Amino acid sequence: MSSLQQKIDQTVAVLQQAAREYFPVVFANSLGAEDMVLTDLIAKHQPDIGMFSLDTGRLPQETYDLMQKVREHYSVPLRVYFPASELVEDYVKKHGVNGFYDSVDNRKACCHVRKVEPLQRALAGKKAWITGLRREQAVTRGSLEVSSLDVDHGLQKFNPLLDWTNAEVWEYIKANDVPYNALHDQFYPSIGCAPCTRAITPGEDIRAGRWWWEDPQNKECGLHVGKIMPLKRV
Ligand code: ADX
Ligand code: SF4
Repeated sequence: MSSLQQKIDQTVAVLQQAAREYFPVVFANSLGAEDMVLTDLIAKHQPDIGMFSLDTGRLPQETYDLMQKVREHYSVPLRVYFPASELVEDYVKKHGVNGFYDSVDNRKACCHVRKVEPLQRALAGKKAWITGLRREQAVTRGSLEVSSLDVDHGLQKFNPLLDWTNAEVWEYIKANDVPYNALHDQFYPSIGCAPCTRAITPGEDIRAGRWWWEDPQNKECGLHVGKIMPLKRV
């Protein structure tokens, strides 16, 4: 069996375990390359896992195009959460619409309003959530577990692609004709909000285009920071 097939089997087993032991479970879908692999695997193997995206209001057009394509391509519904309008209005009043460039605190405050607060609503009443995090993506992600208790959000968190390589993600996408973000073909390996994402040059780190003006230790938006307690390995 190929090593990719082994990883696929392990990932499907994690998805099945999550759905069996932690129902209701939801998948946080950023529509990035990893998340498109998970979208495809969930649609094919475990369609009772709910799927949602956080629309920050600042996503690139290409991400919206992909969101529309997912709707046409897959029968599993993608629920979209928006930020609370009064919180966005308050942020803009205090810091300006692009205030996130001014300081790490202002950037984190924007991510809080546009991502973290909507995430809390998306996770309310759920027993587990699933992400597309991979260990090799960032220094901040090296010690993650496939399954752990997410103390901050008070539910189990699964990272079923944790040990996949970037090459395996793309091998899966190509082999299965999975739709993907057009920006990936324009040197954007990691895509978030338009004003906080740029293309990288060959040889640069995979997340070098995210919040490129900040120190690598800070480069998390608040969705995944916090105390994570390993409970059990799958
Ligand atoms: S981020 O923290 O830097 O923005 P990244 O883009 O690497 O995160 O994505 C890591 C995982 O976080 C994704 O696989 C997905 O599970 C979740 N995630 C990030 N952004 C979103 C979003 N806008 N909507 C839903 N899930 C998201
Ligand atoms: Fe705001 Fe940028 Fe964070 Fe998006 S990535 S929520 S625009 S600071």
